[in-house]
Amino acid sequence: MQDARYLAKKKLPSMIFDYLDGVALEADGYYSNAEYFKAIKLSQNVLAGGGSKKISKKILGKSYDLPFGIAPMGMCNLVSSKADYAIGKIAKTFNIPVCYSTMASTSLENTFKITGDLGWFQLYVYDDLKSGLNLAKRAQVAGYKTLILTVDVPELGRRPRELKHNFSANFKPNFKQVLDCAMHPKWSLDLLAHGIPRPQNFDKDLKINRNKPRGAADWNFLKDLRAVWKGKLIIKGILNPKDAKKAESLGADAIYVSGHGSRQFDSSPIPIHQILKIRRSINKNTILIYDTGIRNGEDILKALCLGADFVMIGKHALFSIAAEGFNGLVQMTNNLKKEIEIAMAQMGTFDVNKLNAKHLEDF
Ligand SMILES: Cc1cc2nc3c(=O)[nH]c(=O)nc-3n(C[C@H](O)[C@H](O)[C@H](O)COP(=O)(O)O)c2cc1C
Repeated sequence: MQDARYLAKKKLPSMIFDYLDGVALEADGYYSNAEYFKAIKLSQNVLAGGGSKKISKKILGKSYDLPFGIAPMGMCNLVSSKADYAIGKIAKTFNIPVCYSTMASTSLENTFKITGDLGWFQLYVYDDLKSGLNLAKRAQVAGYKTLILTVDVPELGRRPRELKHNFSANFKPNFKQVLDCAMHPKWSLDLLAHGIPRPQNFDKDLKINRNKPRGAADWNFLKDLRAVWKGKLIIKGILNPKDAKKAESLGADAIYVSGHGSRQFDSSPIPIHQILKIRRSINKNTILIYDTGIRNGEDILKALCLGADFVMIGKHALFSIAAEGFNGLVQMTNNLKKEIEIAMAQMGTFDVNKLNAKHLEDF
């Protein structure tokens, strides 16, 4: 991931790079999660024989060729006017799920046209619960079968690197930022040709204000949403067994353990550390999805060994698009796939569906 990040930093104006890369407050959450990842070791088993590795997964009623997909991210087209399209195309190229955000720069109807059933939709609920339910209904009408309700943004986290640029969804570059853009002519020409991307899932009834609290939703809202949403329902941003069990009891099909890429809550529990506890607290058949801090294929395997059924990739995907567009995303996906297969060979294991904590050293 570091190569893609390095290229993204070179190719994007600092305001945009800091939007992608910035985390909450002191970045303690970011570093604790990264340290925990580093401390987890996969077990090595030699002379296990060769042979092909099974790395496909069936979750939520659908088979995917890889054990990972792309997490929902708002305003991806700030990286490139073709980012949303590239994300949809990668879903089709590799048969993996990708999720579009309420804050996407392409309307949910148009993103569904690119992905079909490989596309999931992510719902943010602002201060008006009715608009939240209406947006879910709109996604259902558009054809989405899988909805993620994100619950870890009751208020937008304070990210110093965004704040210093006065970044917002309706940003107007100031003089310094215009100069910064001029230093990145390829990015700027793309922006001039296609205009500043704005969130496209809002209308006169659902007005955009990125900084508005998103905390009106409560457990009763989840009940209402469950009654309205006929497809699979995933609750994203859960970090403890109590909340996981409650979401499950109210009809969630999947618990999505996530620290929002360390962007929300600097002192939160360490996301990768919470998987095992949460896995043990929920039903065997409830799907557990994980994201936050995944850098490579070995990190994906660590999350699967701890009990995740599936993993989602966040900013690594946007760095890759910034670096090389769609080809960058293809390269990232191929690299992750290869890294998974190579590590499985070292581990002497042949099927990602059979991984568990016994494949971790000293667990
Ligand atoms: C630029 C950016 C925008 C994001 N926007 C959203 C969003 O609109 N909705 C959401 O549920 N999560 C959003 N996230 C969080 C991701 O879905 C995911 O949880 C996180 O990126 C995973 O961590 P990682 O980036 O370390 O892989 C965003 C993350 C980034 C980097």
